[in-house]
Amino acid sequence: MAIHLISVLVISSTLAVAAQERFPQTPLVSKRFSYPTGLPYQADSENLLRGTQFGYNLCNSSTESQESLCQTSFLNAVDDFCLWAPSKADSLIADTEGEEVAWCSQPGRGTRRIPPGALKGVQFMRTPDYVQVVGFIDQTAIDIAAGDSGGELDPHGADLRGNPLGGLVYSNAWSKNPDMYEQVIEWHNFMGGNAFCFKVCDPSGPHAANYCQHIYDRIGCAYNAPNNAKEGVFESCEGENQDFPGVYTQDGRTLTYTQPPEALGPITSVPYQPRVPASSNCKQFSSSALYTYTPSSVMPVSLAVTSASSTASPSSTSKSGGSQSQKDGESNDATYVVFSAITSIFGVLFSALFLA
Ligand SMILES: *[C@@H]1O[C@H](CO)[C@@H](O)[C@H](O)[C@H]1NC(C)=O
Repeated sequence: MAIHLISVLVISSTLAVAAQERFPQTPLVSKRFSYPTGLPYQADSENLLRGTQFGYNLCNSSTESQESLCQTSFLNAVDDFCLWAPSKADSLIADTEGEEVAWCSQPGRGTRRIPPGALKGVQFMRTPDYVQVVGFIDQTAIDIAAGDSGGELDPHGADLRGNPLGGLVYSNAWSKNPDMYEQVIEWHNFMGGNAFCFKVCDPSGPHAANYCQHIYDRIGCAYNAPNNAKEGVFESCEGENQDFPGVYTQDGRTLTYTQPPEALGPITSVPYQPRVPASSNCKQFSSSALYTYTPSSVMPVSLAVTSASSTASPSSTSKSGGSQSQKDGESNDATYVVFSAITSIFGVLFSALFLA
C-alpha cells in the first residue's frame, strides 16, 4: 500500500515537472502590464521547452534601431502599427514564429521601422469589436524570405507562451486619450505571401476571443480577416464586424468549420466563402503622407532588397519547402499554410486566397 502511494506520488510529481517544462506558470493571455510604466523586461521570464524569450518588452530610445529585439507591438491607426517579423534577413515565419520582433511604421517605440517603400497598400478598419490593418508588403524588407507563404502569430501557441514568446500588443483605439495605450489581450497577425493582416480585439468586448480566434492558422487572411484591401491603396475605414473566423451561414444554418490537421496534407478547399463586411467612411491617403522617414534612421528598402536578393536561389526554394514541416513538430498555433512541391503555384493561389 505504502509502495503504491509512493509510486503514485513519484508519477504525479514527474508529470508535474514535465508539464512545468512546457507550460508557463501563467499563460501569456492572462498576463497584464500597463504601458509604459508596468512593462517588464520580459513578459515571459521562464526557461521552458521552447527556451527563453528571444527579445524584450521594455523598449526605449536606446533599443530603437534596425537591430532592435523589441517585442512590444502596437496597432493604433493606418499610419501607426507594427507587424511581427523575423530579426534576421531571409527567415521563414515557420522557423521563427517564437522569436518575431516588432517592425513599426512609426518611430518612438524602441522598435525596428518598416523600411520606406516596403508597404504597398494598407487598409485600416475600425469596427465595433476590433480594429485591423490589412495590406501588401515587400516582405523581404522585414526579413521574411522571398516566397515564404508564412503563418500566424498570436498570444496563445500550443504551450500558451505566445508566438512570439512574450509578445505584447497595445492600442489606443479604445482610449479617450490617444497617449493612453491599453494592453490588447486577443489578437492575430498573419504574415506571408507579401501580405499581412493584423487584428486586435477590444479587450472589453464580450467576443474578443471569437473575433480574434487563433485556431484557423492555416487558412490565412481571407478567412480570418475578410477584407477588400487593394494593392496601391492606403485607406482608413469604418466597418461592420466580420463573422467569427470559422463560423459561416449556409442554407439558413450557422456552421463552424473545422480546420483539418496538418498530417492530412494541404488544405485544397474550404466549404465556404467568408463574408466581407460592409465598410464606410474610407479616407484615402498617399503613402508618403502616412509614413515619413528621416533617411538616416532607417535602412533604405533598396538595401534590404539587395540583401534579400540572394534568397532567389534554388537552395532557398528548397529552404522555403522546409517551412512545410514545423520546427518543433508540435501542433502549434502559428502553423503554416502548407503547399509542398508546388510552392510557387500554390503561393500565388494562396496570395489570392489570403487577401481575396
Ligand atoms: C531601455 O531598455 C533596455 C532594454 O530593455 C533596458 O535594459 C533599459 O533599462 C531601458 N532604459 C530605461 C531608462 O528604461
